[in-house]
Amino acid sequence: MNGSHQVASGADRNIARQRRFWTRRAASWDHGAGNNPGLVKVVERVLGEANPSTEASAVDLGCGSGQVTLALAKLCRTVIGVDVSAEMIALLLENAAREGISNIEGRAVPIERLKLLDNSVDLVVSNYALHHLRDRDKQVAVNEAFKWLRPGGKLVVGDMMFGRGGDARDREIIGSKLALLLRKGPGGWWRIIKNSGRYVIRFQERPVSMSAWVAIFNRAGLTDIEALPVVNEAAVVRGTKPKPLSTGGGAMN
Ligand SMILES: C[S@@+](CC[C@H](N)C(=O)[O-])C[C@H]1O[C@@H](n2cnc3c(N)ncnc32)[C@H](O)[C@@H]1O
Repeated sequence: MNGSHQVASGADRNIARQRRFWTRRAASWDHGAGNNPGLVKVVERVLGEANPSTEASAVDLGCGSGQVTLALAKLCRTVIGVDVSAEMIALLLENAAREGISNIEGRAVPIERLKLLDNSVDLVVSNYALHHLRDRDKQVAVNEAFKWLRPGGKLVVGDMMFGRGGDARDREIIGSKLALLLRKGPGGWWRIIKNSGRYVIRFQERPVSMSAWVAIFNRAGLTDIEALPVVNEAAVVRGTKPKPLSTGGGAMN
């Protein structure tokens, strides 16, 4: 038995779990996400930080039914929407067709298995999806995104970003979530028990703090990294793939 076999099977189990969970929830996410004011603010912030040129080619990791992809497609040349759930990709393409958008390619593939050519895209975005990946797979995904990006290209990640109480922001987020649920009575108490299980066991949701995301971006080689809190636990982290330094030879004047 070797270590690499164990790592692969852990990733496969998580991928299968995410696919089952999100295939069941695809229609309700498609209907509900646009009405969630918090999520709308994060989507706007991701798009604002991405700020693509009309010639840009972009990729949206964990695109759902198009909450970021559809808007991005109106701003740039092409967008590849990637999601583990074929149901989500079907909804994305239906939504695109309804809006007359034809520059989206949908790929029903897990982020962990996505293959793109090196230096082939200008922008990689992801919104509220990467916290579903195991921590080691978050780093691998960002390392891969770095390779796919052309020099000067950007990675923009919006997500729930908090750890397990390691810093003041974490404690504030956890405290305000607890206070909100406690006020809801027995239904809220039950959710506290359920969510504690989720976050402690890190079964379905595995958020990490903003500073952990900054470290992940740094290790991948991204530069100009900025971490921007948006609302409640949500934040956006942005970084750029550096352009190679010119090796001289330019005229002096
Ligand atoms: C909370 S929804 C967010 C959807 C959309 N990005 C948005 O902003 O509303 C999370 C999405 O991530 C997708 N997802 C979860 N794990 C994934 C994985 N390993 N690979 C690809 N997509 C994944 C789910 O199928 C789901 O569509």
